[in-house]
Amino acid sequence: MTTQHGIQQSPSDAGWTPESWKARLAAQQVRYDDPIAVARAVDKLGALPPLVTSWEIEHLRSLFADAQEGRRFVLQGGDCAETLADCRPEQITAKLKILLQMSLVLVQGLRRPVVRVGRFAGQYAKPRSSMTETRTVDGREVTLPSYFGDLVNQADFTPEARRPDPHLMVRGYQHAAMTLNFIRSLLDGGFADVHHPEYWDLSFFGNASLAPERREAYERVSRSLAEAVEFMEALGEARVHELTRVEFFTSHEALNLLYESAQTRRVPRREGWYDLTTHMPWIGERTRALDGAHVEYMRGIANPVGVKLGPKADPAEAVELARALNPGNEPGKLVFITRMGVGNVESALPGLVGAVAAAGRKVLWIADPMHGNGIVTRDGTKTRSFDAIAEELRKTCAVHQAAGTVLGGVHFELTGEDVTECVGGAAGVTEACLSRNYASLCDPRLNYQQSLELAFMLAALLRDGGGRRA
Ligand code: PEP
Ligand code: CO
Repeated sequence: MTTQHGIQQSPSDAGWTPESWKARLAAQQVRYDDPIAVARAVDKLGALPPLVTSWEIEHLRSLFADAQEGRRFVLQGGDCAETLADCRPEQITAKLKILLQMSLVLVQGLRRPVVRVGRFAGQYAKPRSSMTETRTVDGREVTLPSYFGDLVNQADFTPEARRPDPHLMVRGYQHAAMTLNFIRSLLDGGFADVHHPEYWDLSFFGNASLAPERREAYERVSRSLAEAVEFMEALGEARVHELTRVEFFTSHEALNLLYESAQTRRVPRREGWYDLTTHMPWIGERTRALDGAHVEYMRGIANPVGVKLGPKADPAEAVELARALNPGNEPGKLVFITRMGVGNVESALPGLVGAVAAAGRKVLWIADPMHGNGIVTRDGTKTRSFDAIAEELRKTCAVHQAAGTVLGGVHFELTGEDVTECVGGAAGVTEACLSRNYASLCDPRLNYQQSLELAFMLAALLRDGGGRRA
């Protein structure tokens, strides 16, 4: 079939174009008040070179296909919301290092290669529970648009800052490019090479107090990995380079569809359309309506796509989503990221997993133990408990094990810094110390130590059987 624009379409693409989402209802969309400025920003974005390439995207799809069969494990993580101000070398390096160190613990424990996917280089748009925010300013109630992330408006509570500004899409894109450029240069320069223990070394985290037994356990893991690599090299193992090369992929919530569709292109010598702002875009829990704009946009792109599923997701709806987003039932194409909340895993997850399996739909299941476990302290601070996060992971593993399905990865909000945003963990962050270093503008993140602790816990959990096909 050929459209009026001369675009070849397969039957399942019928009616799809990078902009066909505009005819659907888009949840969580802000209203820009200057359409000419929007058109200018979108044109500018569309003319800039892409951030990622189609062959990287296809490569990630093949890695996801392995992960959904239990041959690899996906570690996805990073900030809840990146900010333009945090596009700084220290912050980026710290995030890469914690993901690297966690992946090292997982590789060693699971004896499976780990695929690292950052919530970075574009995680600038945030869904909110309310379109507006009301605060008392100088004794008066003031209502302004909510802060939707640096891609849309600014966090300060003033009318100028909260006004959605289309030029921020271009600035966000530029900052994503700078972030990715730095990450690519670090990796090219051997940052993540196991031959360079100085990069893997815990001493980098001078400000993070790690319990001595954790430090020892980590050092044991990194030593044994380095020895294994040396041993393979001594044997002349040809695959050693492949095994030790570390890759990072990018992901973000595809919330602002103007931003995504502006960089959605065909590429030479390949079929299909690619969202070239990121390797793996995902649809959030609040924007996954089957007939909504986000599902419409995502069904037409070739990237692997994620969908967040919360405790209210209906099993039949999940199957429909799988059909809509992956009509060809291709491996590695669709990722369901479950975020139930610790109290709902056992009641809500088995139905979803069972329905998708019974319908024969191919899905990579990833556990996000963060977004269902938000709590607010008595003084109004948003936090999450380490114990609830760990327990959701345990329960999610148990559900997959009982169903004979594969838990192929995890999704965390974390930072390599020594923040105090989530309570609990071995360092004993309590409610009283949350204000010591609470830096997130959105959801609370695991700090360096809590992240590494979870990696050890997961490695033990999955080694004991969870996560592989029964
Ligand atoms: C997020 O990942 O930051 C988020 C908002 O998640 P969810 O859509 O699962 O609520
Ligand atoms: Co979040």
